[in-house]
Amino acid sequence: TPTNKVCILGSGNWGSTAARIIGDNVQLLPDFDNEVRIWVYEEMVDGKKLTDIINTQHENVKYLPGHKLPANVVAVADAVEAVKGATHIVVVIPHQFIQNLLDTVHGHTMPNARAISLIKGIGISNQGMTTMTQIIHRTLAMPVASLSGANIANEIAEEKYCETTIGCSDPDEAIVWRSLFNTPYFRVNCVSDVIGVEFCGALKNVVAVGAGFIDGMGLGNNTKAAVIRIGFLEMRRLAMHISGARIQDSTFMESCGIADVITTCYGGRNRRLAEEFVRTGKPMSQLEKELLNGQKLQGYLTAGEVHSYIDGCSITDHFPLFTNIYRICYQNKPPHSIFDGLNVDFSRD
Ligand code: NAD
Ligand code: 13P
Repeated sequence: TPTNKVCILGSGNWGSTAARIIGDNVQLLPDFDNEVRIWVYEEMVDGKKLTDIINTQHENVKYLPGHKLPANVVAVADAVEAVKGATHIVVVIPHQFIQNLLDTVHGHTMPNARAISLIKGIGISNQGMTTMTQIIHRTLAMPVASLSGANIANEIAEEKYCETTIGCSDPDEAIVWRSLFNTPYFRVNCVSDVIGVEFCGALKNVVAVGAGFIDGMGLGNNTKAAVIRIGFLEMRRLAMHISGARIQDSTFMESCGIADVITTCYGGRNRRLAEEFVRTGKPMSQLEKELLNGQKLQGYLTAGEVHSYIDGCSITDHFPLFTNIYRICYQNKPPHSIFDGLNVDFSRD
């Protein structure tokens, strides 16, 4: 009899794609229960509950239209019900909603449960900057791994080959997480650097906003490459600063690092809406509502969170690109100001 059971908290574009993968994989893993519960933030779609649609049509018609979910993936609207009996909890919601969700399930998880965060975002508290695995660990008191990579969800749902990175400090647990996610088209590489993986995933969204500004101004590939290069170096500099250099440099060369910066700067939602921001002059939050049909942006929020941290530490001079992107998003600075003061020396980082 299976001793393990997976629950997925979150059913957006990426959560639904992850459910497709995990729903298939558990059927090949004798240690895992066949049923995978997925928590859905309930809403009405064409007069029907989204949970009912998922459980009858086996498709998340709003967030991942056109792709069937395996029938063993069961949608539930109650997060407490979703985590019941789960030994492996996959957390995949937009980062701005994390604390509410964790407070809801707190006290209802199994004593031997562990979690993995697929979220790309950071938290700010009076102790400084926190990662999602730290927030989950602090609230639910369980081991937490991270998964991040060059992973535009729609492309993975179409089963186009890509790689991802799992950060897990326990090698035995890493093998189990890998078995839940790895497929011939979704290749998992495991590293021990949990927070390094997360910082990469969160901070590249800020660089993607910068890349979108470049596209919005109609500038070229060379210009975007410059933004990617400087953005990548600022990501590494900030992650090292916050972690006290506990992050491994090699993490930046994994899928979660350089590869994700590239894909998001060419194909992501943050890039697309930053381009629209320059073209239309509308605020990001308005564009999100108008263009994303309920999907959420992380990049402009992360730009604000990063800025509050580096400003609080009086180190904005060391992060001119992040600072310029923040000012364009929030302080009406012109898009062209993204180039101000970019001549920073990274050679000693
Ligand atoms: P999404 O942006 O497609 O959808 C938004 C989700 O948030 C929906 O499921 C919606 O029901 C839910 N929601 C709305 N209001 C809520 C509330 N108040 N409380 C809780 N949930 C609420 O979601 P996604 O793409 O699955 O993103 C989740 C995380 O995965 C993000 O951190 C994102 O950066 C990351 N991610 C996304 C992709 C991708 O390509 N979509 C790839 C990798 C990582
Ligand atoms: P966007 O949220 O910008 O679409 O990025 C998705 C992603 O994280 C790809 O790896």
